[in-house]
Amino acid sequence: MSESLYPVPEAWANRARVDAAGYARLHGRSLADPGSFWLEQAKRLEWVKRPELAGDWSFDEADFHIRWFADGKLNVSANCIDRHLATRGNDVAILWEPDAPDEPSRSYTYRQLHAEVCRFANVLKAQGVAKGDRVTVYLPMIPEAAFALLACARIGAVHSVVFGGFSPEALAGRITDCDSKIVITADEGRRGGKKVPLKANVDAAQQHAPAMQTVIVVKATGGDVAMQPGRDIWYHEAAAQVSAVCPPEPMGAEDPLFLLYTSGSTGKPKGVLHTSAGYLLWVSYTHELVFDYRPGQVYWCAADIGWVTGHSYIVYGPLANGATTLMYEGVPNWPDASRIWQVVDRHKVEILYTAPTALRALMAEGDEFVAKTSRESLRLLGTVGEPINPEAWRWYHDVVGAGRCPIVDTWWQTETGGALIAPLPGATALKPGSATLPLPGVDPQLVDAEGEVLHGATEGNLCIARSWPGQMRTVWGDHARFFQTYFTTYRGKYFTGDGCRRDADGYYWITGRVDDVINVSGHRMGTAEVESALVLHPKVAEAAVVGMPHAIKGQGIYAYVTLNSGEEPSDDLRKVLRDWVRQEIGPIATPDAVQFAPGLPKTRSGKIMRRILRKIAEGDVSSLGDTSTLADPAVVDNLVANRVG
Ligand code: WT7
Repeated sequence: MSESLYPVPEAWANRARVDAAGYARLHGRSLADPGSFWLEQAKRLEWVKRPELAGDWSFDEADFHIRWFADGKLNVSANCIDRHLATRGNDVAILWEPDAPDEPSRSYTYRQLHAEVCRFANVLKAQGVAKGDRVTVYLPMIPEAAFALLACARIGAVHSVVFGGFSPEALAGRITDCDSKIVITADEGRRGGKKVPLKANVDAAQQHAPAMQTVIVVKATGGDVAMQPGRDIWYHEAAAQVSAVCPPEPMGAEDPLFLLYTSGSTGKPKGVLHTSAGYLLWVSYTHELVFDYRPGQVYWCAADIGWVTGHSYIVYGPLANGATTLMYEGVPNWPDASRIWQVVDRHKVEILYTAPTALRALMAEGDEFVAKTSRESLRLLGTVGEPINPEAWRWYHDVVGAGRCPIVDTWWQTETGGALIAPLPGATALKPGSATLPLPGVDPQLVDAEGEVLHGATEGNLCIARSWPGQMRTVWGDHARFFQTYFTTYRGKYFTGDGCRRDADGYYWITGRVDDVINVSGHRMGTAEVESALVLHPKVAEAAVVGMPHAIKGQGIYAYVTLNSGEEPSDDLRKVLRDWVRQEIGPIATPDAVQFAPGLPKTRSGKIMRRILRKIAEGDVSSLGDTSTLADPAVVDNLVANRVG
């Protein structure tokens, strides 16, 4: 047997909310009778008007639409805050751990959160923000980030969070695309003892983002920033002038909640749009089911609010469930590789959710950083973002969790809103490296290149055959692109872009992206984006970018660059180009390797054969396959000879 099985621990089986048989029933019912199943689940939310309709959707071109609970009305922030006030107003909602370990942590009860969010909402209103307006949020991991999101939700504004690690250019592109007139930022962010000049980045973005009219600045570090009169407002000054009462705006179930830009295989990042009720239901339901969340537990999702994981599983899912959600400002390995485990001990974290890349980096530092902490409070571990290699899985299980804690490997995407394939800790036996089984309502299908549905144990392209409430609804400003990107490769199905194997037990094993998307440390990078950044450099004629295996990041970025004639390749230029991409997009897009290539392998029709470039980047030059269709087969020899490795 090539794979080991970790049965549900007895303690978990005994107190399981859902056991193995229960899971099978739930999943079966969800597909057999989705209407009544989802209307029943909808009761977990508090509605202004309870819906009578569940899913109403079609993935066919002629009648393409996706709606859930469309006749319902609710407010997302009221669901995350107000409805908990009577029962757990004094429970901690947000527990904040600062970057520096010697600084005090902060906490906000649901009652305090209510006041903060109302104030923030009133500040936005005072700036003229109305229902449907887009608000760009470019903040560090401070509690105000959660307040800002919930404040938008309260008044029906649509937030668009831009990760603090993105450059001014990338920020400007996202502001412009959704025509956001207001940006919320901070003077500076802090990560691993270093300052991030957020306000200065916003200033630099202005010239490419003329739509931006108002900048609300949260004082986070007290660092010096230049305030532009007429445009910039200090949050604390504005907040002092508004009341802490702001009634939640009743919203239609399908009114937009947020957009979040993500990379695809072509073109610029797209604004993934999520709407109100279906999204909230999905993240609340999956947060409770997959993490077996129980009232009073301290839950920590160690992601950044700049990514969908932070939206769904730091803010919306946990708060909808009345949880105590921990928010960490810093990075996993600062001041040293013990930090995560120290935070776990300090706050008695019971559920920890993090990414394989962080685990691999910490694992490489040695077990002693873990062993010197207690971690006694931990009950459950989670992972997300990329396939977890069995070695990292076992380390997480054996060393971090001391063999006691199940691991929930959750497969999902920005587009899916929340987890779609994941174990239920009281129900599902685990296999290291497998996200296991589909959640209720999820109907995965593996298809071959022709779209033929494959049955039984097999490998293919992962599609989802029917809609689920948390599904994205459109690409901001480009509904045709939404349909084109996800529903045309295999007609009538949502195509995820992932390859996947299903074993004889029906377990799913994600094998990675099959499109031109690279997964760097669990973050998506489109090869096309990095290529466009490279060709903007005056010395670059052409560029082709592929992923390559990377021990810590999962995948690294390998760039082939053809220089303009007369330009000389050099190590200096290599560094210049790496810095250039970092400036253009942000540090996560920095190529790990740059190979100068006098020519790229192209077919006679001019199409770059990426398959060959991927093989060379992987160092797998013995099986380049058929190169006879290339316009100039000799370029391959040059590429192989000059491989960077
Ligand atoms: C891509 C989505 C989901 C939030 C973070 C990333 C990969 C994600 C897993 C997992 C294997 C995974 C897929 C997916 N991925 N989780 N548990 N096992 N692969 O969101 O940036 O939208 O990226 O991440 O390739 O398509 P994202």
